[in-house]
Amino acid sequence: MRIDILTVFPEMFQGPLDFSIVSRAVHSGIVEIQIHDLRDFTESPQRKTDDAQFGGGSGMLMNALPIIRGAEAVRDMALESSQVRIVFLSASGKALTQSLARELSLAEQLVLVCGHYKGVDERAIEYLNGEEISIGDYVLSGGELPAMVLVDAIVRLLPGAVGSLDSVEEDSFYDGLLEAPRYTRPQTVRGLSVPEVLLSGDHAAIDAWRLEQSLQRTKERRPDLYSKWTKEHESHQEALEMQIVHSLSVNPTPVSQDASGVSIRPLLADNVGARKFHMRLFEVQPGGHTPHHEHEWEHEVYILQGSGAIVSDEGEMEFKAGDAIWVSPKERHQFKNTGAENLRFLCLIPTMGTCT
Ligand SMILES: C[S@@+](CC[C@H](N)C(=O)[O-])C[C@H]1O[C@@H](n2cnc3c(N)ncnc32)[C@H](O)[C@@H]1O
Repeated sequence: MRIDILTVFPEMFQGPLDFSIVSRAVHSGIVEIQIHDLRDFTESPQRKTDDAQFGGGSGMLMNALPIIRGAEAVRDMALESSQVRIVFLSASGKALTQSLARELSLAEQLVLVCGHYKGVDERAIEYLNGEEISIGDYVLSGGELPAMVLVDAIVRLLPGAVGSLDSVEEDSFYDGLLEAPRYTRPQTVRGLSVPEVLLSGDHAAIDAWRLEQSLQRTKERRPDLYSKWTKEHESHQEALEMQIVHSLSVNPTPVSQDASGVSIRPLLADNVGARKFHMRLFEVQPGGHTPHHEHEWEHEVYILQGSGAIVSDEGEMEFKAGDAIWVSPKERHQFKNTGAENLRFLCLIPTMGTCT
């Protein structure tokens, strides 16, 4: 990916992009970032880039022409317009979210225009068919800090920028929820200890605890995200239920939700017995794979879409949509997508209780 930033304050970018993940991504060639001084694109001898507003009003406005010339100069004409996105950082733009960052991370080239003063002449946005993005409901003095925020949010999503993709996927907002609390050494800090479950080594129980905490936090702190997530997952679950029923030709018992909002399904009684399960849906892109991992519990995996293979100490076993796989406790394994479409599978992780 290539990112070009147009600004009247190029010096502001020295430093913030020179550390950590963004800097490593630049050095390893994952992203190229170029900062351009908008004053280089003026025709005024004073290199002026702003003027008073038509119709009056306090504050200067950035001229359209230096922005248009700048964007045209840096735009890679070899790319199709859908692969180049021209973004104006703007308080009145659409909100920057994790899913928008993910969408932008797929572009080949991004041209970021930093406004200043009272903003930019509307015709620059119109002519360049730009999109306006805001980093929050507050007004900053210029688009430089928002551009840095946007660059950071996007670059960490580029393949190879962060050591493990799992780490990015476990972050807040990736799946629409806030992250569960995290802990590191020492086990006790000023009398505060780490939740027992995290020391248990039981990965299924840890996953279930984290999901529960995530849901609880999101419900308390971001009811807007929580209701969106529960709505999406309800319809998601209906669809999954249909597919499972179809693939197994058994009638499922109804889905219910516990107090924390975690979906619990007393599963297909003749198949797995009357135990509670957490359902987790996984998606692996073509050519991708999950990390090698193991669970304390035996669990079931239903292949909903695509084809692939499960690799374990026992060897490699191929599967396709409609297959159900039984994974033994402590069996180290990995799922690989060997097909051309996304591989989607549902993991049923037993919890301790039984269904009544
Ligand atoms: C002082 S602001 C202009 C605010 C503008 N008059 C308005 O009311 O929306 C100057 C520049 O800062 C940037 N900016 C300010 N707040 C922003 C935000 N929340 N998100 C993205 N960019 C912002 C924009 O590039 C904007 O052109």
